[in-house]
Amino acid sequence: SPSDPDLVERARAAKEKLGDKVFVLGHHYQRDEVIQFADVTGDSFKLARDAAARPEAEYIVFCGVHFMAESADILTGDHQKVVLPDLAAGCSMADMATAEQVAECWDVLTEAGVAEQVVPVSYMNSSADIKAFTGKHGGTICTSSNARRALEWAFQQGEKVLFLPDQHLGRNTAVRDMGMSLDDCVVYNPHKPNGGLTAEELRAAKMILWRGHCSVHGRFNLDSVNDVRERVPGVNVLVHPECRHEVVAAADYVGSTEYIIKTLEAAPAGSKWAVGTELNLVRRLANRFAPEGKEIVFLDRTVCFCSTMNRIDLPHLVWALESLVEGKVVNRIEVDKETEAFAKLALERMLALP
Ligand code: 13P
Ligand code: SF4
Repeated sequence: SPSDPDLVERARAAKEKLGDKVFVLGHHYQRDEVIQFADVTGDSFKLARDAAARPEAEYIVFCGVHFMAESADILTGDHQKVVLPDLAAGCSMADMATAEQVAECWDVLTEAGVAEQVVPVSYMNSSADIKAFTGKHGGTICTSSNARRALEWAFQQGEKVLFLPDQHLGRNTAVRDMGMSLDDCVVYNPHKPNGGLTAEELRAAKMILWRGHCSVHGRFNLDSVNDVRERVPGVNVLVHPECRHEVVAAADYVGSTEYIIKTLEAAPAGSKWAVGTELNLVRRLANRFAPEGKEIVFLDRTVCFCSTMNRIDLPHLVWALESLVEGKVVNRIEVDKETEAFAKLALERMLALP
């Protein structure tokens, strides 16, 4: 839907009044009406790296979801205040691993006698608590753009990896990128006693995958790929690694949102693409590249927005910015000091990956 011109003008005016005091970050899944006001756009990795790029900005307005705003708070100075325009913008995947469940899992691994060989690798899409757990136990954070390097690093530190919370990214990286077999992976189900695994299974596994997934990318399946190949002859299938393994295995190209954009930028005129990721981004890319003669379709016919990314809309952004103009910091995201210290350790290991 086209954005309300009155709200567009108010957002523009508030940003202008705030000047260098505000730095607006926007994830690629944000709505068009919001992303137009971002000073920097990016995938999760780029946004984590760039969050600290403006130390002079007193306010960081994060147009994305809660775990991204937490990471920005962890990685920026104490004098900088991070604002999430709608506190209901969470992530269902991040919610699939709680601190209690992960502590219980560590007890299970200890009981089975494997904890000492395990290095935790946590996807960016996790709460600050999970990142702190990861840092405390010698592990690293990863995003979809560096998961392979993170796993390679982890396997230099230990024999096994506990991958949290996205089973698909963990499995896809291990099997597609690193040549492990599906049998090297087991799935730990936090809702079952002992994760639903025996001590022997834990001892034999190389990758212990947390049973979490993205509800948006989880909707694509093998039929989505087969159907689009039939519908659009010669199509290239380009998907995000949060998709199920069967989808990634059948795709031609796999990568983060930033990779998806770069791939389409480099694509020749006349090429056809089916993209398996969030719909705000796919639509934006389809509109952007249509004049260049690149045909871009959504991988599936079912509409697939990320409902929590969509919580950040123009009214919320205007409210956050105008509040800052009045000196009121609304919806501040602030991670407590102890959690922050360990979470930062894990995030810095990621930023230092080769
Ligand atoms: P990237 O932008 O890092 O590819 O992540 C996608 C995503 O699901 C963020 O929530
Ligand atoms: Fe979370 Fe999936 Fe939405 Fe990303 S797209 S924020 S992983 S629910």
